Amino acid sequence: MNTLFAANWKMHKTRAEANQTARDLVRLVSALPAGREALLIPPFTAIDATLHGLGGASGFQVGAQDFYPAAHGAFTGEVSPAMLLDAGARWALTGHSERRHVIGESDAFVGQKTAFGLAQGLGVILCVGETMEERKAGQLKDVLIRQMEQGLQNVPQDISPERLCLAYEPVWAIGTGLVAGPEEILEAHALVRRLLEGILGSGARSVRILYGGSVKPDNASEIIALDNVEGVLVGGASLKADDFSRIVLA
Ligand code: G3H
Repeated sequence: MNTLFAANWKMHKTRAEANQTARDLVRLVSALPAGREALLIPPFTAIDATLHGLGGASGFQVGAQDFYPAAHGAFTGEVSPAMLLDAGARWALTGHSERRHVIGESDAFVGQKTAFGLAQGLGVILCVGETMEERKAGQLKDVLIRQMEQGLQNVPQDISPERLCLAYEPVWAIGTGLVAGPEEILEAHALVRRLLEGILGSGARSVRILYGGSVKPDNASEIIALDNVEGVLVGGASLKADDFSRIVLA
């Protein structure tokens, strides 16, 4: 399966800025190296502008940062998977650390979203990861077990592995410049891989596991070369086309 380079723009970029960044990226990358694909994840309001900026460039897709696990109804402020698909998004994030720790989403709610998004036809990137306090307390394994068991509850065992990704994002490495070291990434990704197969069965062997947390142009190639790392989820360094193109080409 292709290595996935995902750009989470979080709450950044107007429509014009998103469109320009997508255009610049396509110009700078010109052709994605074989075996790689890129996913731009703008705010809802800029999904359409980002798609237009990409102009159908091969290997590039657009995703969304969130959705609500219902088809429609009285959910003020929310957006459904069908609405995202209609807008041209093909993937969405669930369980991102900012949704868990800033907005207060529970493990159970993340699980509801993951199963619903997949059932509705979105590709889903389920994000997991420990805080520094949890790591210092020796709770990495417990946290990943809890987040993955609940995050993947109700995901069918026969889910197509190309439609699901896990993203290991240690909370302490997000936006801090503190990238996890190779040993830390190897340990966590091996654990995520074992848990994936334990929960979803051997069919999940080829589900991609992304690393996220202070990925930059100068550390991306070392990270994607590690075992069980099949892509990256990039925040800050994805906002400038120049930086993200260097990551995609790393
Ligand atoms: O979704 C992306 C992650 O939160 C990583 O953000 O690259 O700014 O550390 P960052």
